Amino acid sequence: MTSPARKRILVGVGGGIAAYKACAVIRHFTEAGHDVHVIPTDAALNFVGAATFEALSGHPVSTTVFDRVDEVAHVRLGQEADLFVVAPATADLLSRAATGRADDLLTASLLTARCPVLFAPAMHTEMWEHPATVDNVTMLRRRGSIVMPPATGRLTGRDSGAGRLPEPAEIGMLGDLLLDEPEALPFDLDGVHILISAGGTREALDPVRYLGNHSSGKQGFALARAAAARGADVAVVAGSTSGAGDPAGVEIVPIASAVELSDEMTKRAREADVIIMAAAVADFRPVVVADAKIKKGATGPAPIELETNPDILAGLVQARGRGEIGADTVIVGFAAETGDENGGVLEHGRAKFARKGCDLLVVNPVGSGKAFGTEDNTGWLLSTAGTETALPLTSKTLLASRILDALSPLLHRD
Ligand code: C5P
Repeated sequence: MTSPARKRILVGVGGGIAAYKACAVIRHFTEAGHDVHVIPTDAALNFVGAATFEALSGHPVSTTVFDRVDEVAHVRLGQEADLFVVAPATADLLSRAATGRADDLLTASLLTARCPVLFAPAMHTEMWEHPATVDNVTMLRRRGSIVMPPATGRLTGRDSGAGRLPEPAEIGMLGDLLLDEPEALPFDLDGVHILISAGGTREALDPVRYLGNHSSGKQGFALARAAAARGADVAVVAGSTSGAGDPAGVEIVPIASAVELSDEMTKRAREADVIIMAAAVADFRPVVVADAKIKKGATGPAPIELETNPDILAGLVQARGRGEIGADTVIVGFAAETGDENGGVLEHGRAKFARKGCDLLVVNPVGSGKAFGTEDNTGWLLSTAGTETALPLTSKTLLASRILDALSPLLHRD
C-alpha cells in the first residue's frame, strides 16, 4: 500500500442489518494506521452498540449534534476529514443526505465535509430500485459523492437480489484509492458497457489436472470495481482467481479454458463500448483431454502434445476491422513481460502493441514476486497516439483508475 500518511477518516453507519459489517470497514482503516471516527445513526445502534464502535475506533461515539456542543463536533468532524465513508448507506440515509438534512450528527457532518464521500448502499432490492432512491443516488452523484453499486446476493430474509452491502474489503479498497487520489472516481462512465476478462485460464489435461498460471485476477477485478463506481455497466469474464474478491454490482461470468473465454468474449463483444483483456490466457492447450485420470505408468511421464489457443485480443481487433463488432469499440490489452536477452520489458511491450493492434496496451513486469497475486502493480501505458506513460508502483485500484482515465477520452459518446 502506498498511503503511509495517517489520515482522518469518518465512517458513518446507517441503521441496517449490514451495520455489523461496518466493524470490518473501520478495522480496515485503523489497521492501516489512520485516525477513524465513527458516526452511527440512532437506528444503527439498534444493530451494533456504541461500545463496539468506540473500542474499534478508540474515540467516543455520538449520534447527535447535542453532545460535545462546546467542541462544535458536528462542524469539526466533517471539516477535518480526509475521507467520509458511509456503510451501510440505507435508503433513508441516502434520502436525508440527498436533501441536505442535518437532523443528526451523521447528516450534519456530511454537510460540513469537503473531502471525498463514499456511500456503500445496503437495502432491499425494491428500495434500491424505487424511483425515489434512484433519484437520490443520481442527485448525490451529481454533487460529486461516490455511490457504489450494491452487490447482488442474499439479503436479510430468504430473498436475494441487488442490495447487499459491498464487501468491507472492497469498500476499503475504494476508500484507499480516494485517500491516494481524491478525484479518482468521477461519475464519467455512466451507461458505458465495459467487458473485462480477468484471471487465469485452465487447460484441462484430465478430469483432475490442468495447465494454468499464477494470475490472481486482482488487476481485472480492480478495473471492474473502479469502472462500476464510475457508472459503467460492467461484465467480467473470469477464469481462475485468488483473493481478488468479487466486485459489487458487476456481472461475473465464470469460465475455465481459453476457448471458453474466447467464446464468451466474442459473444459479448458486440454489446461492449470497451473491451479490456486483463486475463492471463494460456497460449497452448493439450491436444487430448483424457477422460480418466492419467496414471503414472511404468515408463515414466508421457509427453503432452499441445496445440495453439486462439489469440482472443488480436481476434477481437480483427473482428472490429471486419465490422463484426462496433468500429468505435475501444480495445485494451495487457502485456505481462519479464524481459530477456532480446530486450527489456518495455521493448517487448512495444513489439506486442504493434502486433496486437489494440488501442491501449498496459505493459507490466512480472515474475520475481511482481504483479501476480500482489496488491500493487507498475509498468507503462502505450497508446496508438504514440504516448508511453510510466505507471509508478501503486495499488492495482489506482492503476485501474489511471487506465480508465486514459480510455475515457477515447469513447465515442452519442
Ligand atoms: O501474447 P500475450 O499473451 O503476451 O498477450 C497478452 C495480451 O493478449 C493480454 O491482453 C491477454 O489477455 C491477451 N491474450 C489473448 N489471447 C491469448 C493470449 C493472450 O487475448 N491466447
